[in-house]
Amino acid sequence: MLHCQALAQRVPLRCNQIELSLQAQHGVWNGGLHALQAAGLQVLAWSPMAGGRFGERLRSALEEVAADRGATANQVALSWLRQLPGRPLPILGSLRWERIEEALLGAELTLDRPTWFYLSEAARGHEVA
Ligand SMILES: NC(=O)c1ccc[n+]([C@@H]2O[C@H](COP(=O)([O-])OP(=O)(O)OC[C@H]3O[C@@H](n4cnc5c(N)ncnc54)[C@H](OP(=O)(O)O)[C@@H]3O)[C@@H](O)[C@H]2O)c1
Repeated sequence: MLHCQALAQRVPLRCNQIELSLQAQHGVWNGGLHALQAAGLQVLAWSPMAGGRFGERLRSALEEVAADRGATANQVALSWLRQLPGRPLPILGSLRWERIEEALLGAELTLDRPTWFYLSEAARGHEVA
């Protein structure tokens, strides 16, 4: 964020790309995401699927929620991301059309608040508030 503030004094900034996913949530809880939103910057989330390396407990929680919603685990993970403040835009890394189509088909999926927290906690391994 400090880099952004320094740069913003010289050039108009519109967005900032940060690592952001269920598995990389630090910006959500340390105020980083809110600071970007307050600065009027659109957040771009790199590695939104953690490069395909979500941990086992998180994968199992995603599968459980996905089965309940008639969705896929990837769609649920992207929905979690979209519901963050400022609606971050995921920068998908896959070049496979099936993955891109899957993301597009799930673009309207929303999660209720308890489910959103359930996934946050499954990823972090402890309660969050
Ligand atoms: N600004 C920065 O510092 C920075 C740093 C890193 C990356 N980036 C940018 O962010 C983009 C995305 O990063 P990323 O590649 O880490 O994105 P990502 O979308 O998190 O990961 C893509 C990888 O995850 C795999 N994957 C997705 N879903 C999966 C699943 N359900 N099971 C198994 N594997 C799965 C994909 O495999 P398939 O190919 O088989 O679909 C692909 O190898 C990069 O291309 C780059 O432009 C920026």
